[in-house]
Amino acid sequence: MKSWVQSHLNVGLIVGVLLVLLTYLVVTQQAANSGGGTRVVTTVAQWLVDKQLNEEPRQRVVTTEAQQVVDKRLIQAPSETEKSAIPTKVLCSTDERLSDYCELEGDIRIRGRSWSVDIVPSTWSERQKWKIRPYSRRSATHVDLLNVTQLPGPAAGAGAPPCTVTYTRPAIIFALGGYSGNVFHDHADVLLPLFYLSRQYGGEVQLLVINRVQPWWLGKYALALRRMSRYDVVNLDGDAHVRCFRRVTVGLRLHKDFGIVPDEVPGGLRLAMPDFTRFLREAYALPRSATTTRLDPGRKPRMMLIQRQPHRRFVNEKEIVAAAAEEGFEVVVTELRIDAAVDEQARLVNSFDAIVGLHGAGMTNEVFLPPGGVLVQVVPWGNLGLMARVEYGEPAAEMGLKYICYNITVEESSLLEELGPDDPAITDPDSVHRRGWAALYDIYLTRQDVRLDIARFKLTLAEAMDHLRRQQGQQQGRR
Ligand SMILES: *[C@@H]1O[C@H](CO)[C@@H](O)[C@H](O)[C@H]1NC(C)=O
Ligand SMILES: *[C@@H]1O[C@H](CO)[C@@H](O)[C@H](O)[C@H]1NC(C)=O
Repeated sequence: MKSWVQSHLNVGLIVGVLLVLLTYLVVTQQAANSGGGTRVVTTVAQWLVDKQLNEEPRQRVVTTEAQQVVDKRLIQAPSETEKSAIPTKVLCSTDERLSDYCELEGDIRIRGRSWSVDIVPSTWSERQKWKIRPYSRRSATHVDLLNVTQLPGPAAGAGAPPCTVTYTRPAIIFALGGYSGNVFHDHADVLLPLFYLSRQYGGEVQLLVINRVQPWWLGKYALALRRMSRYDVVNLDGDAHVRCFRRVTVGLRLHKDFGIVPDEVPGGLRLAMPDFTRFLREAYALPRSATTTRLDPGRKPRMMLIQRQPHRRFVNEKEIVAAAAEEGFEVVVTELRIDAAVDEQARLVNSFDAIVGLHGAGMTNEVFLPPGGVLVQVVPWGNLGLMARVEYGEPAAEMGLKYICYNITVEESSLLEELGPDDPAITDPDSVHRRGWAALYDIYLTRQDVRLDIARFKLTLAEAMDHLRRQQGQQQGRR
């Protein structure tokens, strides 16, 4: 079993190891930006304060109606008299904490090769321009900006390029690159926002992708993408066509770091994280939608212990496995690999009831666990609890999983022996945070391994088992 598991796992971690952690940097930069660009957030504590301050950006930023027009540029054509004209509606938002995006209706013309989206208004009006980064995190500054332009007037004479392809279905334009390619960001930044944006169309939507698109990415997530749109994704990179639509969303809007705000879902659909994980189970044909099983009530709960490589490893793997087995789990150790199909990996994870792993992109596998399952995230030394909670803990709870956080003590960290008890990295993690991301990443996320204190960790194992057993009990009670 173990070797099969090892050769079939694909968690995207090796490529992603640098990228996943950029979320920290991202939020840090955003917090700095929202503070007027002069303040630099250097500690996780500060990050938390900024995050709370920024939780309701709309109320905070838009204070008057006049300002709202400036900020949102909501333009509605007054003319309904011209029969042939399509009413123009333009909403471009550049003031939210995470993302910039536009919602466009009317005569929209897209030229991939010149990275431009032109809105041809039904009546003469002022020319307007926005620069939109179509990746869902504005802070991904290595993703180019799209020029979104409202031309000053109807086609003839206003410089509108003639359409070469005309669609009746709406379109969504999004960028790859950015932090994508890392399994956490693939889900948090691309697949999740695409999911809640596209649901309203029931598959009748054209996905347009831009920014040095990697074909392997589209191939890797083909099953999920196909479930969002029944049409092949169009790659806009170097595209010589002028593609014309009546309704276009430019960019993906993140509600939060990895989550959905039901009220913000377009079309009044009120989707939430359980809808996203159900969507993934359907896309990958995952059989288990609950941890309880009627067919085999005597089955032992299964625990997946995720081992990273080459860093941030559990050094006493055998003892952990023995302790979990003693607690009543069937335990399988998996190494993170990048060379297998997502659906195979998803099916494997779905056969488990609990995941145990060290903080990192591998935790993203939580999306494939059956609801009712348990995510145990072991948080390494270095005051990383906030990152761990925001990226994986809160999302897990929203998915309907039980989330258990295990903060290691300094005695469980390999850094204690390596650096000695007086090193600032041991005595004052915030001092490392103040030195910036590179230092934090190097010390706490690259050089650190973990030797779990088995006696202490057994309490966590018992809590996980208790949760699973109680659900099984409830299930049997109902029968
Ligand atoms: C986008 O617009 C700016 C002017 O605001 C222009 O300098 C730039 O060349 C445009 N980019 C493209 C790709 O057309
Ligand atoms: C782990 O540490 C974080 C702070 O980093 C704290 O908020 C959280 O409550 C701790 N969790 C447990 C289970 O001790």
